[in-house]
Amino acid sequence: MSTHTETPKTTKVSPMTAPAIQARKNGEKICCMTAYDYSSGVIADSAGMDLVLVGDSLAMVVLGYEDSLSVTMDEMIHHVRATRRGVKNALLVADMPFMSFRTVETALENAGRFIQEGGARAVKLEGGVPVVPQIQALTDAGIPVMAHIGLTPQHVAKFGGFKAQGKSVEAAKALIEDAQAVEAAGAFCVVVEAVPVEVAQLITDAVDIPTIGIGAGNVTDGQVLVYHDVLGLFDRFTPKFVRKYAQQGKEAIEVFGQYINDVRLGRFPGDKNTFYLSDDVAAQVRKIKVKKKK
Ligand code: KIV
Repeated sequence: MSTHTETPKTTKVSPMTAPAIQARKNGEKICCMTAYDYSSGVIADSAGMDLVLVGDSLAMVVLGYEDSLSVTMDEMIHHVRATRRGVKNALLVADMPFMSFRTVETALENAGRFIQEGGARAVKLEGGVPVVPQIQALTDAGIPVMAHIGLTPQHVAKFGGFKAQGKSVEAAKALIEDAQAVEAAGAFCVVVEAVPVEVAQLITDAVDIPTIGIGAGNVTDGQVLVYHDVLGLFDRFTPKFVRKYAQQGKEAIEVFGQYINDVRLGRFPGDKNTFYLSDDVAAQVRKIKVKKKK
């Protein structure tokens, strides 16, 4: 029996950098998770994520908007700053919200804010060929860019809903063109969302930068999922490509129910949760005469 085990090529640095992520093409799978504040940042980072994304999914899973179109730069910055305080090792990437990169100038200004005010070390933006000038300009300015093609939720109105993309020969070819265009513009990796696995394989083979899949099968160089989906904290809908590893929303409701019962029945707080005076002070305090004010 052979004892040989194949060890994938891997480049791990701490803190993680965009070039180190890029060097993981065809190497150890890149593991990414979204996070939106200090505590979710600490948890994702402590678990060993390579990359933590403050996604504009913030709009839905944290802020309760219908879709990701309403979240603003200021709201995103607030959450990037909070996440920064929790993430020590993973590469922190900030997602550029809808309309924040419509021109090269706005892209530079807003991505610059994410780096300077938010403490992010890279930005993500949605789109392929049409956003090549923005990716090029950001990369030239020293800001690493994670591209995002396929089902780009900021184009949900154009797609007519959250639908898988690249399902025809022509659409598949267009996605390959998008991937090669963002690579040529300087992106260090590309998110490929909701495309058939055969197309994800073609895209992955067509570029030398890592592909990070979400709903793109297991052929990409890495995977990304939304924090609240993985933990079962978001109940509005669950896309087919999500694996819920926990039911923390349900568990929290049960736990809070126990707390409510304990408070109502006088079982909380208990002795362990209570401050007591020393015996002599307690004896003196008991002698204090309290007069009710009318
Ligand atoms: O906003 C987000 O969370 C994302 C990821 C799911 C890729 O764009």
